[in-house]
Amino acid sequence: MLDQATTQRLLSDPDPETVRTLYAEADMVRKNHVGDAVYLRGLIEISNHCRRLCAYCGVNASRRLTRYRLSREEILAAAHTAKQYSYGTVVLQAGEDAALDKEFVTAVVSDIKDATGLAVTLSLGEREPEEYAAWKQAGADRYLLRFETSDPELFARIHPPPPNAQGKSRIEHLQMLRELGYEIGSGVMVGIPGQTWEMLAKDIALFHELNLDMIGIGPYICHPDTEMGHHPERFPPAASGEQVPPDEETTCRTVALARLMQPYANIPATTALSLVNRESGRSHGLARGANIIMPNITPLACRRLYEIYPAKSLSVETAEEVNKQITAQLQQLGRHIGVGPGNSLNRS
Ligand code: 5AD
Repeated sequence: MLDQATTQRLLSDPDPETVRTLYAEADMVRKNHVGDAVYLRGLIEISNHCRRLCAYCGVNASRRLTRYRLSREEILAAAHTAKQYSYGTVVLQAGEDAALDKEFVTAVVSDIKDATGLAVTLSLGEREPEEYAAWKQAGADRYLLRFETSDPELFARIHPPPPNAQGKSRIEHLQMLRELGYEIGSGVMVGIPGQTWEMLAKDIALFHELNLDMIGIGPYICHPDTEMGHHPERFPPAASGEQVPPDEETTCRTVALARLMQPYANIPATTALSLVNRESGRSHGLARGANIIMPNITPLACRRLYEIYPAKSLSVETAEEVNKQITAQLQQLGRHIGVGPGNSLNRS
């Protein structure tokens, strides 16, 4: 296991040979622990309503934005699309939307399980323990909740607390989810203004401490219509030389180090990574530790409204086109599409 000083050095070491070795080791560890299969998770963005005011996020509650919420039938139809294209998992993601209540999500999870048998991952924000429990009971398999940064001060700066906050941290939420039997996923944004190399090295150590089954890592992308976009002066960068850049290179190094720290985890080549280098961001991620892709199967009309960062919805290909692209890309990398749910192989 890497100690924190080594992790921090590897994040920013300018020596090209060191970086090549890091990537080669991450790729080998990936191959030896989770193999050459790349699992596809069909992402369904089920609602862009949100009660939170996250300073970086394009669907935050303060924005004037057309809001939508998919119906039970629409969600089930999207799950059928996932099944049709042999994806093993659907990921239901949304803003923190109170209308996606215990009963609604329970019904949706049961629908999908009954009709498709697919693995179901939820990514619905910080919710009540009873909701987590009911959804697990209904058949949900996994839960994603990024901690975004392990630094409490930086976290607080970009996440104004909700009214009547009961004060549980995202780390505590993740522990709760683990105890309920979920596979748990978390992750960070790379290059948040104010994020230092030391903080990012701590984030990576926390992936291991939490024994994450899934780790999502993407560069921070400024959305102009957010508090961080409107008032950059309120979110100053760290001192010179200490600020992590929100670039492809640093994101890939973080992915590689996450793989070394959590060899059995499922790690996606994220959409944000594929946006900072449209040509090869995704391939680079897959060659440097990642083993998951999350194709977007949200109905096209809604996709442009789920713009948590700019250009997120640019890809408007059909599932069929996406599959063709991915198959070709994987072939070049000597990899193949994984069959089945692609459960976590993580040994707890
Ligand atoms: N840039 C990059 N990633 C973002 N996310 C939200 N807003 C942004 C942004 N501006 C990420 C967060 C969140 C996930 C769903 O999307 O990490 O957890």
